[in-house]
Amino acid sequence: MKNILVTGGAGFIGSNFVRYMLEKYDDYFIVVFDKLTYAGNLDNLHDVLDHPRFAFVRGDICDAEAVEAVIRQYEVDTIVNFAAETHVDRSIINPGAFVQTDVIGTYTLLEAARRFDLERYHQVSTDEVYGHVEEGRRAKETDPVAPRSPYSASKAGADLLVNAYFVTYGLPVTITRGANNVGPYQYPEKVVPLFTTNAIDDRPLPVYGDGRQKRDYHYVIDHCEAIDLVLHEGQPGEVYNVGTGQEIENLRMVEIILEELGKPRSLIQHVEDRLGHDRRYAMDISKIRALGWKPRHTPEEAIRKTVRWYVENEWWWRKIRNADFEAYYQAQYGRRRVLSPEEIAALYGESKQE
Ligand code: NAD
Ligand code: DAU
Repeated sequence: MKNILVTGGAGFIGSNFVRYMLEKYDDYFIVVFDKLTYAGNLDNLHDVLDHPRFAFVRGDICDAEAVEAVIRQYEVDTIVNFAAETHVDRSIINPGAFVQTDVIGTYTLLEAARRFDLERYHQVSTDEVYGHVEEGRRAKETDPVAPRSPYSASKAGADLLVNAYFVTYGLPVTITRGANNVGPYQYPEKVVPLFTTNAIDDRPLPVYGDGRQKRDYHYVIDHCEAIDLVLHEGQPGEVYNVGTGQEIENLRMVEIILEELGKPRSLIQHVEDRLGHDRRYAMDISKIRALGWKPRHTPEEAIRKTVRWYVENEWWWRKIRNADFEAYYQAQYGRRRVLSPEEIAALYGESKQE
């Protein structure tokens, strides 16, 4: 491995991965290939743009010619694919963009990897492909995928294609399925940065439904370490779950943010739920542990550290929370009904019986 193409490297996890790899290795050249959608941002890479072992190319992973050109120009031997449409709420409004980038884009990269006989194709996938996981169970890599949103269905489709290229063509692929990442440079549509930046400005925090959904909030650098390990030690054709293995309720996540900021609980506002909202994600992480990896942060530590980063880096997120963002916010939340105390009490009653 010498020249790594990091697709989607101007996004949240991709940019953290680029920084991590440049710091850890002194002999890898990293090329970021990114379309710079609303979620892509060169500010995420501000401190590495002039690095001698770094290059940035703007392009679309669905554009086969552009993908082949960048592979040729930089003699790429490895692809790590982060590029995707990633926000579940946006996938409910506009599913086509998710099918296009997450499925067709992955197919385009796989074709290029096959044609150029690359050493490794790594797909960054998600725990959402398993769908809702019942209490008392944890999803294992061998479980069938059961996605329920246009986002997770597109990611699951991509995973199946990646596996098909291993079985059919012998392409050396690996897949990691990550839990909910938090950390620096996460676009503030996702819940932890959205609620943190809202709370800093004393704006309400729109909690979906009863807020008792469970997620495994995971620190982004821990995820980057796991991807690095799988790239070097993972078995081609294998899938690896990556998370803390300790999910918490969303209401607890909100409390941690408010505690860290010293803000009142009165900012919590229960609103109409997300359509098809998965109640619980939970993964068994024993396979990646057996490879020699372990999470360095609990969900609580990960959330607190993230909140502190947003407090210290207003320069980064204030530019993003501009008029365009406000228009998105109004479209997403403006018409969402605020739940009455009776409705919330009824939801709590239902969730106790689960
Ligand atoms: P993000 O939305 O912050 O970044 C996505 C990046 O992909 C952006 O820079 C964007 O410009 C780029 N991109 C989008 N469409 C593109 C296209 N057609 N061609 C080239 N570039 C394109 O996303 P993220 O949260 O950093 O997620 C990265 C990957 O990790 C995704 O594949 C996502 O499904 C997966 N994942 C995310 C999480 C999470 O909690 N954020 C957890 C598990 C897995
Ligand atoms: O689990 C991994 C996935 O995590 C990634 O694959 C996705 O790319 C990433 O977006 C994330 O998906 P989620 O839907 O879990 O993340 P989000 O931050 O949108 O929401 C987290 C939880 O918070 C979820 O239960 C919905 C809830 N939520 C979210 C928002 C934006 C709210 O209650 N209110 C909100 O305003």
